[in-house]
Amino acid sequence: MSTPTTKASDGAIKQQLPSSLGHGRLKPLPDETNRLYDYYWPPVPAFEGFDPELSKFMSASADEQREVLAGLRDDPAEHGSFLHRHLAEIYAHSFGYRDGAYTRHTDDEAEKAMFSAKITLERELFDHWSTTDPEPEFADQFEAADYLDELAATNPGVVHPLFEYLRDEAPREQLERFLQCELIRNEVVDDEVALLVVGLQGMQKAVAAANLWDECGRGKLENFHTYWLRRLLSATDGWNALYEYRENHPWFAKFTSNLNAALLTRPSRKMMAYGCFLVFESWVEPHFVRILDGLTRVGILDDEVRIYFTAHVKIDPRHSQELSDGMRLQRPLLSPDEVRDIVQGAHMASSAGKRQFDHMLAYLKSMNSEGDQA
Ligand SMILES: [Fe+2]
Ligand SMILES: [Fe+2]
Repeated sequence: MSTPTTKASDGAIKQQLPSSLGHGRLKPLPDETNRLYDYYWPPVPAFEGFDPELSKFMSASADEQREVLAGLRDDPAEHGSFLHRHLAEIYAHSFGYRDGAYTRHTDDEAEKAMFSAKITLERELFDHWSTTDPEPEFADQFEAADYLDELAATNPGVVHPLFEYLRDEAPREQLERFLQCELIRNEVVDDEVALLVVGLQGMQKAVAAANLWDECGRGKLENFHTYWLRRLLSATDGWNALYEYRENHPWFAKFTSNLNAALLTRPSRKMMAYGCFLVFESWVEPHFVRILDGLTRVGILDDEVRIYFTAHVKIDPRHSQELSDGMRLQRPLLSPDEVRDIVQGAHMASSAGKRQFDHMLAYLKSMNSEGDQA
């Protein structure tokens, strides 16, 4: 039998830690919620084997791999396509869904080859694909956080002409294609944020965890940000269309996702991932406002299609600000190396985004009215 003291302290603990999901047992979900959760998420096909070119690369010796990559560098499109298509295939493994290579069974030898190829491809990505100007120097985290607030408002991704084009000119089929690309880009953002939480400390961890809790609907399935994407797919009859489209998803549409995964899955680049994510969050509101204006212009007024964007316009200005505040309030104080890494990650994100949006603008403009490439 418990002593009164134990009872009192049990009660105190319960009061401090109420269940975040409600009180007591979880309630059955409404039919509509269950219906949308009947679909596997993310809407990806099951893994059926690596691209033959990637298989060949993985079975090559380290010297042969270096030769292959060096031979591609003169042709930026070939080089970028090789890196981004193959890294995307490897990163599917890191997120653990059915499109990943060894997410339903282990294969030690094959996984060793895959991880080795991952590291070699990432080295190439950082040394020969990712470009940033020399990094500015900051005295401390406070000065750098002020700089990042400024960068969040002014980086070339924020006001990229792609989003003016979507708002003012893109015909309906181009906007619909762009929504498919956006969906693919955002389908595992909650997991990206989850990976960001790991290994952070103090206030940086708090703001990353708060962002993850928002992504997961603060425990309510209907408010998961990916639930709004499920609603978009259902409203546009888009589940099957997305499976078909994914086959032809352009290689440049994964620049930002791949950069993020490259930073998130290597512990020494943890702080770069934080800076990278801060820039990504800074884009959401200005981009989504323009996308919504474009949807209105072409007559896409259905709230089910728009909910993902309208909800984020409300939430996301706070997210970016929280990330810079998280840096200001961080204890122990960040070392000069950590401050430099955060700023470098922010610059990498900005540059990768600009390049992705440049490609996307040209890609959309080259579409004919059937939605194919001209
Ligand atoms: Fe979100
Ligand atoms: Fe956000």
